This record gives sequence, structure tokens and C-alpha cells, in this order.
Amino acid sequence: MKISILGAGAMGSGIAQVAATAKHNVILFDTNAAALEKSEAKLKKIMARLVEKGRIDEATSTAIAGRITYAQDMQLFAGSGLVIEAIVENLDIKKSVFKQLESIVDADTILATNTSSLSVAAIAAACDKPARVVGIHFFNPAPLMKLVEIIPAIQTSDAVLTEAKSLIDSWGKLTVIAKDTPGFIVNRVARPFYGEALRILEEGIADAPTIDWAMTELGGFRMGPFTLMDYIGNDINYTVTETVFKAFYYDPRYKPAFTQKRLAEAGYLGRKTGKGYYNYGEGATNPEPTKDKVLGEKIMWRIVAMLINEAADALFWNVASRDDIDLAMTKGVNYPKGLLKWADEVGLQKCIDTLDELHSEYLEDRYRCSPLLRKMGREGQTFYSSEA
Ligand SMILES: NC(=O)c1ccc[n+]([C@@H]2O[C@H](COP(=O)([O-])OP(=O)(O)OC[C@H]3O[C@@H](n4cnc5c(N)ncnc54)[C@H](O)[C@@H]3O)[C@@H](O)[C@H]2O)c1
Repeated sequence: MKISILGAGAMGSGIAQVAATAKHNVILFDTNAAALEKSEAKLKKIMARLVEKGRIDEATSTAIAGRITYAQDMQLFAGSGLVIEAIVENLDIKKSVFKQLESIVDADTILATNTSSLSVAAIAAACDKPARVVGIHFFNPAPLMKLVEIIPAIQTSDAVLTEAKSLIDSWGKLTVIAKDTPGFIVNRVARPFYGEALRILEEGIADAPTIDWAMTELGGFRMGPFTLMDYIGNDINYTVTETVFKAFYYDPRYKPAFTQKRLAEAGYLGRKTGKGYYNYGEGATNPEPTKDKVLGEKIMWRIVAMLINEAADALFWNVASRDDIDLAMTKGVNYPKGLLKWADEVGLQKCIDTLDELHSEYLEDRYRCSPLLRKMGREGQTFYSSEA
């Protein structure tokens, strides 16, 4: 099957590599010639590194690179089985591109969007055949991240959903199905990892190195929230938070933090600018964490309880299944455990009590316990019964 990709930026280039590695012929289109050149040069470098490390041989590398055609002519999309759009995150631009696409591709070509935060239904609505539109959300970098969220819009046909899912599965990815709601699974459930950590920092309970230490050493997370925000970029991470907050009609659970906004405004974006919560570059020094286990446990558990609540609430609102929620967080963002499994392990009542304590302390809706968590706790249920 011929696969076409719109947008040769970070995501489009990565997805092109994944599809070409899965032996598809790929058309990678961008309006910007420089973006195409950059993408081609980057792929060359990645392929050379893979050969050097012995992951693939020279012939395979040549074959993968040879399957990608870099194009500035969208007419080459004709005859594609699937088109994946990965252009700028702007609804109006995406809509006009989808409209244009329909005049080029076949009647049964699946049209997918890699949007992180826009409504798939709104994008599909731009098409004459909205039933063929689906969200296929890869994570960055696409060749390395195993998780892909598949998002059917309310218009998407069952056949398109099934075909999109099985195709991406056949590329060696782990797919989960998410409802077309803001942030899908990962970008919704992960919000407290950043937001609650920022809140703890802003309240002066602990500094960034101490919170990071608590989350990695005591919580088992691969990276602490501040290290991770610096890695993602404070501009990007802030924008995702703000987008999710607005999309949820300003639900205080997702409220962004001034600290991060100021960092983004100041250009302290993290690793990419040499400064964020931490200093980077040669000779940079950073404060040491305060390794107080009692404080650390308190911080870690407050953030984890908020994450569990978010996972439970996503299940409550049928955003995804129990297994897909846990899979998304362990495979998409490398959490040490599925959050619902974690809730079972510590006991649902402990999660409820922590949230209720925070709620009565702050009297903020931000700390409201998910109705599902509360009901299950009351009834003595667990997310995974003995059958799991
Ligand atoms: N970067 C991430 O971590 C990430 C992760 C998942 C999903 N996404 C989503 O993927 C999409 C792309 O993100 P990115 O980070 O790769 O962006 P990017 O800025 O790196 O690349 C976008 C590319 O699209 C091109 N482009 C813009 N308008 C175009 C048009 N009308 N026609 C053709 N090409 C056009 C640009 O020239 C650019 O090369 C966005 O919707 C984003 O939300 C991003």
C-alpha cells in the first residue's frame, strides 16, 4: 500500500521512516522545500547510525531510504491507501488541507490526522466523506515510541477504524483506542504529572530537584517532571496544558502554572535553549535535591494520587478502556506502572482519602475525586479483579 504523509516536520519525517521501514512506498509532502531537504538529510543520518550500530544492514538502509519520495506536488498522493496529515496544529489550515486532499485521492483512501489536541470530528467535517477520517496519533520520536492512539471521530466508520488500527499494528506499534476528547488518553491523564509538581513548587513545599528526586527515586518514574518538561520544552508543554485547559471549559484540574508560562515567555525553554528549570551546557551546575524521605513520599504520593484520579476519571467518561489507559501510560510515557493497577495495589480508599484531604485543605474543585473512584472504593471494588 502506498502511504502519503503531509508535513515533513518532526512528526511527518518520523512517521515516513516508520512506514518505509514497514515496506510501504511513501510520499512525503511539504510546501516548504527546506523542510523536505532537512527531513531527507535527517533520515540519512538516522539510517547511517542504525547501520553503524548494526541494527540494520546497508542494503536495508538503502531500501528504506529509497522507498520515500520527497515531494512538493500533492498530486503524487493519488493511489494512496492512507494519507497521514502532520502539518501545523491549526484547525483552519488542517480543514482546508483535508478538503483539498479529497479532490486528489481515491474514494476509499483513509485520511488520518496526527493532531495532538484538535477535534478529529471538526477536521472530518471539512470532508465530503467524513466517515473515512480518523485520528492516528503518534508520539515523538515516532520511530522509537511504541504507542499510537487511534481516535475515531463520531463520523468515522467502523471499517475505517478497524483498518487503520490493524495497519498501524502491523507496523509493530502498540495501538490504543481513544475517544475524540481533548488530549485523548496520554495528554489528558499525564497533566497532573506536570501540573501538580508545578503547584508543589509554587507553594514552596519543595524545589525542582527534590520533586524530581521524589518521583524518580521513590516513585520509579524514569524522569522527574521538571527534567521532563525541560526535555519536552517549556513552550510546547505549556501550550499542551493551556490547550487542554481551554478545551475542558477551564476545568481547574488542568489549570496551567504561571511558573511555566514565565519560563516560556523568557525563552527558558529547557535543554534546547540551555536553560529551563535547570541549567544545561558545559560547566552548568544545579542544586542538589533534599533527600528527605518523609517529604519525598508525601510529594510523590500527592502527584501519583492525582494521576490515578485522572486515569479513573478517563475510564469513568469512557475515554478508553481500562487496559488501554494503563497501556497508554506505560508505553506512551514510560510510567513505571499502569495507574489503575497502581490504584489497586495501594488501595482505592487510600487514593480517595488523599484526594479528599487535598480537597478539604484547599477547597478547590481541582482536587475533586472521580465519581468512579469514589463509588468503587465504597463498594470495595478493584479495577482488576482476580480474572486479570
Ligand atoms: N512534536 C510533537 O511532539 C508531536 C507529537 C504528536 C503529534 N504532534 C502533531 O503533529 C503535527 C505536526 O507536528 P510537528 O511537531 O511535526 O510540526 P513541525 O512544525 O515540526 O512540522 C510541520 C511541517 O508541516 C509543514 N506544513 C505546514 N503547513 C503545511 C501545509 N499547508 N501543507 C504542507 N505542509 C505544511 C511545515 O512546513 C513543517 O515542515 C501537529 O498537528 C502536532 O500537534 C506533534
